[in-house]
Amino acid sequence: MASVKIFDTTLRDGEQSPGVTLIPEEKLAIAKQLAKMKVNVIEAGFPISSDGDFNAVKMVSENVSGVEVAALARCRKGDIDRAWEAVRDAENPRIHVFIASSPIHLEYKLQMTEDEVLNNAVEAVKHAAQYTDNIEFSAEDASRSDIDFLARLFEAVIEAGAKVINIPDTVGYSVPSEFGQMIKDVKEKTPNIDQAEISVHCHNDLGLAVANSLAAIENGATQVEVSVNGIGERAGNAALEEIVMALYTRQDYYNLDITQDTTQIARLSKLVANSTGISLQANKAIVGANAFAHEAGIHQDGVIKERTTYEIMDAKTIGLDHNKLVLGKHSGRHALKDFLDKYDYELDEESFESFFKRFKGLADKKKNISNADIIALLDNELYDYEKIYELEYISVLTGKGLLPTATVRLKKEGEIIQSAACNGDGPVDAIFQTINELTGMEDIKLMSYKIDAVTEGKDALGEAFIAAEIDGKIFTGHSSQTDITEASAAAYIEAINKYLVYMNNK
Ligand code: KIV
Ligand code: ZN
Repeated sequence: MASVKIFDTTLRDGEQSPGVTLIPEEKLAIAKQLAKMKVNVIEAGFPISSDGDFNAVKMVSENVSGVEVAALARCRKGDIDRAWEAVRDAENPRIHVFIASSPIHLEYKLQMTEDEVLNNAVEAVKHAAQYTDNIEFSAEDASRSDIDFLARLFEAVIEAGAKVINIPDTVGYSVPSEFGQMIKDVKEKTPNIDQAEISVHCHNDLGLAVANSLAAIENGATQVEVSVNGIGERAGNAALEEIVMALYTRQDYYNLDITQDTTQIARLSKLVANSTGISLQANKAIVGANAFAHEAGIHQDGVIKERTTYEIMDAKTIGLDHNKLVLGKHSGRHALKDFLDKYDYELDEESFESFFKRFKGLADKKKNISNADIIALLDNELYDYEKIYELEYISVLTGKGLLPTATVRLKKEGEIIQSAACNGDGPVDAIFQTINELTGMEDIKLMSYKIDAVTEGKDALGEAFIAAEIDGKIFTGHSSQTDITEASAAAYIEAINKYLVYMNNK
């Protein structure tokens, strides 16, 4: 059975979402999870854009296997050389070059003629071909381009060595029947199209990215470019989880083999939401909090009698068996190790021992521990990076008529620093202000702060999310603890640590 290649661009187009800054270690953790899900290609970044992006692409290339790794470049020699330098050590590296092809972009942005664009594209593909034959060419704003010019451009780049031609709906303007027809026309009008794979890359400005991508697949596209949770420029890209689950659930219609591991979807989605700070709307298809919830009595009754009356997908297919009670106070190392194996978490001996201690700490406070609790604890340390500050101790005094007072003790590169201060509008503000004082970072602007309960019940773990603007960039922090003030402090410190790593990488 034929299949469609899943090209994930969460780490490149996704990172172009307004306000998102990922440090290389976060990108690596996401890339590893994408590889676990068995996507075919990971676009890890745009190496010429910054040293941080270059380092992230290099880190992913050197540490993630079983997947192609792509690096983006404009049709310029310097971009292509830098992209190759970053991606060359990947198991299967790909160079992805792009140039705009629509009249609007040619006139106003590039100030180039069609022939100039075509020559530039051919030169770029030939330059990339010195390094690898795994070359993808994108005609930016293809959906608003003249079809005859597009066909001429694709014919020329395929002749020069491009193995994948990508047709982006860059501004999310197309509608499904029209976009499907465009794929058909490209196939008909490009004489050497059989020597290349056809890819599509749809943006979601009109909410049609997934529908357009599926229409393209029906008309001959064999690669789709997607991002986790649909993040990306403006309204984002086609959502990975929606495309994969549409192909999986309607295999009877599409007749395509699904080579991805769908059970990794929930974990991947959460990892990306936590790292980027872009949270999911409750009714988001597949991964929203309500995606598998039933409110109406008639529906609940139907599902109890037979799940398929109102559910077209089983939550387990995307890796959700959240509320299952798995471990408790009497569970030992062995049971915890079994759990980690089952859910594919790899911890070295030292990390396992410290995790076991935290698990026991939780078990002392909470009688029954569910999958979601353990995964939330594990998510506290999803990626390893140089942490300048670590939270050692925290206490807050607050109450009606009292000035909130926070005492915070941090470890800074091995040394203890501490401060107690009466300040702030409330206990959490008092903690943040004391941390600002201790770290000397007074100009942090808190953009969002949210506390969620990981499971139901009054002994639930509290999960804190922070997005903070530091030096004009947004950094996120996340932590799950039994005490929400501790979770808030740890999340705030994570945002500061990520800023410091980002500055070191810049
Ligand atoms: O939206 C777009 O056109 C892109 C290209 C670089 C593929 O992101
Ligand atoms: Zn894009």
